[in-house]
Amino acid sequence: MVGGFFGDEGKGKIVAYLSLRRDVKLAIRCGAINAGHTVVYMGKTWKLRSVPSAFVNPAVSLGIAAGGLIKTDVLLKEIEETGCGNRLCVDSRAGVIEDEHVARERSSTHLTSTVGSTLQGVGEAMVDRARRLLKLARDIPELEKYVCDLSELANEYIDRGFEVLIEGTQGTFLSLYHGTYPYVTSRDTTASAFLSEVGVGPKKVGDVIVVFKSYVTRVGSGPLDNEMSFEEASKLGWIEYGTVTGRPRRVAPFDFDLARKAVVLNSATAAAITKVDIIFPEVRGLRDPSKLPKSVVKWVEEIESALKIPVILLGTGEEVEDSIYLGGEK
Ligand code: IMP
Repeated sequence: MVGGFFGDEGKGKIVAYLSLRRDVKLAIRCGAINAGHTVVYMGKTWKLRSVPSAFVNPAVSLGIAAGGLIKTDVLLKEIEETGCGNRLCVDSRAGVIEDEHVARERSSTHLTSTVGSTLQGVGEAMVDRARRLLKLARDIPELEKYVCDLSELANEYIDRGFEVLIEGTQGTFLSLYHGTYPYVTSRDTTASAFLSEVGVGPKKVGDVIVVFKSYVTRVGSGPLDNEMSFEEASKLGWIEYGTVTGRPRRVAPFDFDLARKAVVLNSATAAAITKVDIIFPEVRGLRDPSKLPKSVVKWVEEIESALKIPVILLGTGEEVEDSIYLGGEK
């Protein structure tokens, strides 16, 4: 699962939904604590920065990737809030963000003013990782009971025919390599990179699901084609606030060119589209595909013919279950 725009597409909800709908054995979260994934399930809201969004299904084992970065206090708090400690495995090689990384980011005018970083210490921890100074999960006694060899487990499950769901973070155009550099995050955020974070090779992948929102948002600096004014976006109800930073997000209409490029960069095999109810209010809370209005069916077909992949899932509300499963993936 990978984001198709600039993050905040609603990946948390889609991952949670698929973990309930499909027979997922293991769900792994990549990335770091700068990315907040929101899950609204049974009337309760979680804003997760570490724990996989699939925690909503108690039958799913959970993991945090070797290429991911955790912060001990953030992770322990989320383990407590979600009660998932007995089925969570943190790869022993996951990196650990410390307070000094946050302090270093806060004192950088390049990050605060130019990049518009979330200032969670992620980039500075990546710097220390590249310098081979960063602590890993295996170095933290408080994490001992969660630490494991996750890549071993993931590969073993895949080889035995079980489904493993990998939850990417941010979005394709925040990629350090393929995004709008320098207005990007400190890692590659395409599907191949998330496989590498987990330690699963490219030949073991079944589906690559790219998540788009029905409009584009961006938080922080950097180009955004067809950006709308705050007033215009507010009128349409398209203004959102960042999960981690609380900053208002910048807004633009759905961008077919970006979406096409995201499909290519990720070799996506299917798409999910969230917040369809924001541009088509008549589908709010709808769950039955047979009740989809013609206008929405036409819009979905237009996206499918532009992207040349099936749209398998539509989001129609905040709740995980407010989703329409269209199917059609391999
Ligand atoms: P950093 O990765 O926190 O240093 O932030 C770098 C850029 O990526 C900034 O423009 C952030 O707003 C953006 N960014 C990082 N993580 C996320 C995310 O999860 N959602 C949306 N934007 C993000």
